[in-house]
Order: sequence, then structure tokens, then C-alpha cells
Amino acid sequence: MTGELAFPSGFLWGAATAAYQIEGATAEGGRGPSIWDVFAAVPGAVEGGASGATACEHYRRYREDVDILSTLGMPTYRFSTAWPRIMPDGRTPNPAGLAFYDRLVDALLDRDITPVLTLYHWDLPQALQERGGWVERDIASWFAEYASTVHTRLSDRVTHWTTLNEPFCSAFLGYGNGVHAPGVKDPQTALRAAHHHLLAHGQAARALRAGGATSLSIALNFSPALADGPADHDAVRRFDAVHNRFFLDPVLGRGYPADLRADLAHLDGLEPAIRDGDLDVIAEPLDWIGVNYYAPTRVVSLADPTEPSNCPLPGLRGMSVLPPRAPLTVTGWEQHPASLTDLLVHLSEYARTPLVVAENGAAFPDVVDEDGRVRDDDRVRYFAEHLRAVHAAIEAGADVRGYLAWSLLDNFEWAWGYGPRFGLVHVDFTSQRRIVKDSGRFLAEVATRNAVPA
Ligand code: NOJ
Repeated sequence: MTGELAFPSGFLWGAATAAYQIEGATAEGGRGPSIWDVFAAVPGAVEGGASGATACEHYRRYREDVDILSTLGMPTYRFSTAWPRIMPDGRTPNPAGLAFYDRLVDALLDRDITPVLTLYHWDLPQALQERGGWVERDIASWFAEYASTVHTRLSDRVTHWTTLNEPFCSAFLGYGNGVHAPGVKDPQTALRAAHHHLLAHGQAARALRAGGATSLSIALNFSPALADGPADHDAVRRFDAVHNRFFLDPVLGRGYPADLRADLAHLDGLEPAIRDGDLDVIAEPLDWIGVNYYAPTRVVSLADPTEPSNCPLPGLRGMSVLPPRAPLTVTGWEQHPASLTDLLVHLSEYARTPLVVAENGAAFPDVVDEDGRVRDDDRVRYFAEHLRAVHAAIEAGADVRGYLAWSLLDNFEWAWGYGPRFGLVHVDFTSQRRIVKDSGRFLAEVATRNAVPA
């Protein structure tokens, strides 16, 4: 490569996945049902009636997948443990479930790949949903118990821990607009669920800290709001409060933003859920923040301040989400790398905590060519542009310690089923054959050189 942008030494390179999206084997090894198994069975909930029952068969093929990571020279792998595999009823440990993650972690370490473990990536045990799920306050202690169980078992080999992945999606898509499991559509309930996610994060973080954890984080999804015009600054503020600051501010010890509390007061969901001391628990100091970034959101103010918005939290007023601008990905997301630079620079200043890009990537219409190669030039370009954006943020002073691409494998993309492919590795869901895409080789080269082409 001539002309390249070098990253700081020790920068963490890797790829990410999540249990329900890749493991399959949902009824094997004593695993209990999760809310996604139940939701996926509801007609119309997931495109094509798909589910994670088979997915990438990673439960059976994890060695092959770890070998792929190793061949690519990826030094880090972010994955999640499935709560219903480890505790089929949500509370009682299942030796076979724990043993699977033992084997996975050992396989990674055998190949010098550093594990980054996420404790919750949306697959709540159905048994806990039947006791109220995230709407029930006790979930905070259930999650802390589960987190401690996994930590006790794996902390001799796993250093980096993430409590929750994208609580915004889990709370607001799961309980607000109902697009994700468990499919509840009620803003008041969503706000309660959101607070309980944060409380669960805090209790788990405290428990892990007490257990000696030294690298603790939460992964939050951020979407910088872009104003349509000068009259839309209030729309930006409103969207930013719900989408970006709702989870970040309490985690940083700042409590819920005052403007957010005012914007949501009419929904009467958040305030009644907060009890004395909760915000202290939620503020357990973290060692890094996982930043999941895909796209910005264009917003416009609404003339009638009582008109509900079309953002994922129904009930938010005064703003509306506009269609994205080209170029788009298969999921209709705007490609706007400059937003990633701005986000990282801003967050680093605002959070004063090291950042790791825990997810970034894109779905494109991949084709396996006759010679068996996947020439995903558009994804290569996407990664190159976004890596240059991360580099620019670091140059501007942002403390970014790593970049984990979403995703290692094409996988179960939630309500979209198996349509959108995000993988560095193509998966044929019939034969389960894996093919490293050009983008996989590109990122491997970036990781090896610790630099991106300029
Ligand atoms: C965020 C989620 O964490 C992940 O599960 C999902 O597949 C990607 N975004 C792409 O939508």
C-alpha cells in the first residue's frame, strides 16, 4: 500500500458477532427458549418467517469460525454469551451451556485471539419474559446474577467485558415500536424497560467490579442527528436526547438529561420507574465505552409540537425522521463517514472515557462469482472510508482504542431475517459453506499493517 494512515500502536482490531445471530442449535445443549425464538414464530414478525434456529450453525462449527479469524490474523473477537444457553430458565446455571463458552474461549486463546465478551445481545430467556422481562424491576438482579455466573466461570481467561449491547434497540424496538422481540408497542412500557436495562447494567457492572473486572464497558448505538435546515435544531436536540444521551448520560454519572425528562414527561413512563439510589448504581465507572455506529439520522422539526414522531420511541413529539440521503446500504442506511469522525471526537470529549468502535459495517448485495470469490467492493469502500473517519477522529484528539467490524459472518439480521448480509465472510445458509469476502481480506490487511490506505 502506498500512502497509508497509521493507527496508534496497540490499537485493537477485530470482528464482532452475537449469539442468537450465529449459533443456531436453539434446542441443543439444554438451551432454553429466548424471546427471539418466540417472537420469530409470530407470523409476520420476521421477514420470510426466518428464525435463529439454524443461523450459521456456529454452535457446532465454532472451531471453523475461530480458524477463519485466525487465518485472517484478526487479533480480537467480540461475541456474546446466550443467557438462555447458560441459564435456560433465566436463573439456574446449565453446565452444558457454560461448557460451550469454555470451549469457544479456549479455542480463541489457543490462536492468540483476545475475546471481548458481551453478556446481553437481546436474547432474553423466555422464562424471564413470562415474569415481566425488562418491564419487571427484578430483572436487574437476575441479570447481575447471570453476569456474575459467567464472570466467575470465564474471568480467568476473558479480560474485556461488555454488559449490554444497544439497550436502545432492546428497549425501544422491543417495547416501543415492537419491531424486535418481545414485540410490545407501548412507549410508557418502553421507558420503564429502558430504565431497567440501565439498572441491570449498573448492578452487573458493580458485581463484575467486585469480582475483580478491570476492563468493563457497555455498547451503545449512536446515530448523530443531522438538521434538515436552520429551523431544525430543536429536532436535533430531541432526537439526540432519546437516541444518544438517554443511555450515555446516566452511565457517565450525569443522570437522565433534563431536556429528555421534560420531552418525555407526558408519557409518564420514565419517572415512575426511577427509585432513590438507582442513578448511583447506573453510574458505576466504566473502563471504556463501546460505540456502535452505522449511520446518521436526518431530522426535521414539526410545526405542531404535539404531533407524535416516527422515531423508534413512539410518543416523542416535535420532531420527525426524514428519509436518508444516498448513498444507501441494503438496509437503507445513509453512508456518511464524517458523522463517525464527529461522533468520536464529541464522545471522547464528553465521556472522558476511552472508546472502542464495537460495531461498524454495512449490508450490500453480495454475489458469489463463478470463481467462488465475493468481490464486495462496496463494503471494502465502506470500511476504508469509515476507518479513515476513525483515523481522523484520533488525529483530532479522540481517545479511540479499537475497531471491531460488524460482522465476522453473514447472519440472522433480526426482523430482516437472512436478507441483509453484513459479514466479512459469506455464509451459504443451505450448505453452511463459508467464503472470506474481499472485505475480509481487506480488513485483515489493515489489521496486520495497523494502517488504512490513505
Ligand atoms: C446492531 C446490532 O448490535 C447487531 O446485532 C446488528 O446485526 C447490527 N446492528 C446491524 O443491524
